[in-house]
Amino acid sequence: MAVTIKTPGEQQKMRVAGRLAASVLEMIEPHVRPGVTTEELNEICHRYIVDELEAVPAPLNYNGFPKSICTSVNHVVCHGIPGNKRLRRGDALNIDITVIKDGFHGDTSRMFLVGEGSIQARRLSEVARESLFVGIEQVRPGATLGDIGHAIQSYVEARGFSVVREYCGHGIGQVFHEEPQVLHYGDPGTGTRLEPGMCFTIEPMVNAGKRHVKLLADGWTVVTKDHALSAQWEHTLLVTDEGVEILTLRSDEQIPQLPA
Ligand code: MF3
Ligand code: CO
Ligand code: CO
Repeated sequence: MAVTIKTPGEQQKMRVAGRLAASVLEMIEPHVRPGVTTEELNEICHRYIVDELEAVPAPLNYNGFPKSICTSVNHVVCHGIPGNKRLRRGDALNIDITVIKDGFHGDTSRMFLVGEGSIQARRLSEVARESLFVGIEQVRPGATLGDIGHAIQSYVEARGFSVVREYCGHGIGQVFHEEPQVLHYGDPGTGTRLEPGMCFTIEPMVNAGKRHVKLLADGWTVVTKDHALSAQWEHTLLVTDEGVEILTLRSDEQIPQLPA
């Protein structure tokens, strides 16, 4: 399957799916507190997606994934499975939400620091979020995927952190993960050229230590090999004639002022 270009009608459905996915992260924020389990967060999100949004939680049963959201704590890079682990003050948590509404997917994730968060967790989370926006800044017709990857990689590595290579952003629409693969590292001017009507995610995973990861025996949970902290933020994007539309922007969100 080649990269799909969404028609205006499909773009409208992507806007709706994106807004709903973002609303789940807005809804769950006050529940992320010391003592709550990631399974409790999963249940709250599941009920909200199904009952309030009348949407489908895309992760549930996706290639056998057992829960409705991903919860990745501290050295977990991505695809953490909600369970009976209680959050503690100082934990850094990524919640990744994907909903299907009217056949279209919206995919977004953010970090939460439980209590204050350590200085290192705060810095890592901030650089990971900024790197997402550094990538988004590159998105416009005629730019390449390599421009995005290069911008993210340079930003992160200049700040002493590393970028995970085994997992990437992806085209999205009626299919959860479609072409193209959106790498968070690379060379400017290389790879697929962006065109209006493309939809894809950018979702850099940024490690405090080395970039290497390993997959746990549950077949899903990805952790840093050195057990150092990892952080991730994700948005679903639409390439427009003018540049980019962030389909999963939240009301609490400010677009960071980035150094030139
Ligand atoms: N939401 C994740 C992504 O950003 C994918 C999760 S797949 C799952 O692509 F099966 F683990 F839920
Ligand atoms: Co994604
Ligand atoms: Co996601």
